[in-house]
Amino acid sequence: MRIDIITLLPELIKSPFEASILKRSIEKGIVDVHMHDLRKYGLNKYNQVDDYQYGGGAGMVIMIEPLDKMIHELKEARDYDEIIYMTPDGETLNQGIANHISLKENIMIICGHYKGIDQRVRDLYVTKEISIGDYVLSGGELGAAVLCDAVIRLIPGVISDETSALTDSFQDGLLAPPVYTRPADYKGHKVPEILLSGNLKKIEEWREDKAYERTKNRRPDLLNED
Ligand code: ADE
Repeated sequence: MRIDIITLLPELIKSPFEASILKRSIEKGIVDVHMHDLRKYGLNKYNQVDDYQYGGGAGMVIMIEPLDKMIHELKEARDYDEIIYMTPDGETLNQGIANHISLKENIMIICGHYKGIDQRVRDLYVTKEISIGDYVLSGGELGAAVLCDAVIRLIPGVISDETSALTDSFQDGLLAPPVYTRPADYKGHKVPEILLSGNLKKIEEWREDKAYERTKNRRPDLLNED
């Protein structure tokens, strides 16, 4: 998968790709990530990329021209399966959206700032608008990093134990059950006996029960039960 990220703050979004699973996915050649500084197409001697909004009101808007030029440059080189705009008024990111995007070949992500980007860019180019939650961030970069992490870990070969991504919370519609590791007894705090039993069928049943119980307690909305 190739990911092109258009941003005014490339330094803000670089570090998530320089550690752990995302770094390895790039080293393994499974993912190719490129940052594009929108200032490259800034206007006039100030490299201006934003301006006041028509109709008045507080907050600057990223202008159409720099974005149009940058998107045009990228589209000349390849076709994009999705052009995603990170915005608090987009569809809220969930595991289903991450699964959907993880199957794509080339994606472009546009990070906004201030009051956002000129609506005409959204109308002309954007195929998907994604929010990472009902709160407003200073820009789309952190949201883009969250999206990339959620998507990249699903691509086959990125996580060495592939079943691990399949047993994540949400992947089967439930939250994940509790997990434990050594020691089996820490100052009297014991690991549930069943997990030490070696009975794989019983362990699987226990995990399913716990996953259901946790989902019912914490996120009953996921169960669709009336
Ligand atoms: N940009 C600003 N706020 C955002 C959010 N909640 N999700 C995605 N992008 C954003």
